[in-house]
Amino acid sequence: MEQKIIVRVANAGDVTYAQTITDEMESSAKARGTGIAKRTPEYVAKKMEEGKAVIAVEPDGTWVGFCYIEVWGHETFVANSGLIVAPAHRKSGVAKLIKQTIFQLSRERYPTAKIFGLTTGLAVMKINSDLGYEPVTYSELTDDEEFWAGCKSCVNYEILQSKERKNCMCTAMLYDPADHYTTQETSSAFKINSKLYERFMKFKQNNLLNWFRKKEKKTSKKNSIEKK
Ligand SMILES: CC(C)(COP(=O)(O)OP(=O)(O)OC[C@H]1O[C@@H](n2cnc3c(N)ncnc32)[C@H](O)[C@@H]1OP(=O)(O)O)[C@@H](O)C(=O)NCCC(=O)NCCS
Repeated sequence: MEQKIIVRVANAGDVTYAQTITDEMESSAKARGTGIAKRTPEYVAKKMEEGKAVIAVEPDGTWVGFCYIEVWGHETFVANSGLIVAPAHRKSGVAKLIKQTIFQLSRERYPTAKIFGLTTGLAVMKINSDLGYEPVTYSELTDDEEFWAGCKSCVNYEILQSKERKNCMCTAMLYDPADHYTTQETSSAFKINSKLYERFMKFKQNNLLNWFRKKEKKTSKKNSIEKK
C-alpha cells in the first residue's frame, strides 16, 4: 500500500471529483469490455454530500479511488458499489483499503443490514471474501425494484431480464450480519476456490452471451417470418 494515500469518508467538499470519477468508471468499463450501471456526476456528488461514500486521494488532492453506499429495501440491504481506482494506483492495495473503510462505514450506519455487491472481477471477489462476504445466488439479494432498475444502463441488462433476474455476468456476494462465516473461513474458501471462480466466470460470460445471441437470432428470424 502506498503510504501517502489518504482513504476517508467523502464529504460535500469532494464534489469537485465527481466528474473525474464517473469518467474513469465509464472508461474502465469500456476497457474491460464488461457491463456496468452508469452513474452521473450528480449521483456521485449526492453520495458525497450524504456521507455515503469513501474517497482516496493523494496529499496534494489528486483523486485516487472511490466507492459508495446504496441503501435498499427500507435499510434491510446495503450495497457497496461503484468501486474504482485510478489506473496509476492499481495493484497497490488501494481498493482493499477503500472496501475495508466503506464496509466499516456501512456496518456503523446500518448495523442490521445485509451488505452485498455484484462483480465481474476476481480482485473484488478476493477483497470481499477477506471481509466475510460469501458468493450467493441473485435470489438472496434485495428484491427492491429500484436496485434492479439501476442495472438498466448496463450493456448486459437484456441478459439479466431474459434470465428473469436469476443470473447475469456479475457474481453476487453477500455479508449477513446475523448469519455469516468468519473472515478466516470466507478468505480460505476464496483461496481454495479462486481458480474455479475464474473458470466459472469465464464460462458464464461466454455461455450467457452465446445463449443470448442465439435467442436474439431466433427472435429476429421469427419477426421477419411474421412480417412476410
Ligand atoms: C478492481 C480494482 C478496483 C482493483 O483495485 P486495486 O487497487 O488494483 O486492488 P488492490 O491492489 O487493493 O488488490 C485487491 C486484491 O485482489 C487481489 N487480486 C487481484 N487480481 C486478482 C486475481 N485475478 N485473482 C485473485 N486475486 C486477485 C490482489 O492480490 C489483492 O489482494 P491482496 O492485497 O490480498 O494480495 C481496479 O482494478 C479498478 O478500478 N478496476 C476498474 C473498475 C472495476 O473493475 N471495479 C470493480 C467493479 S465491481
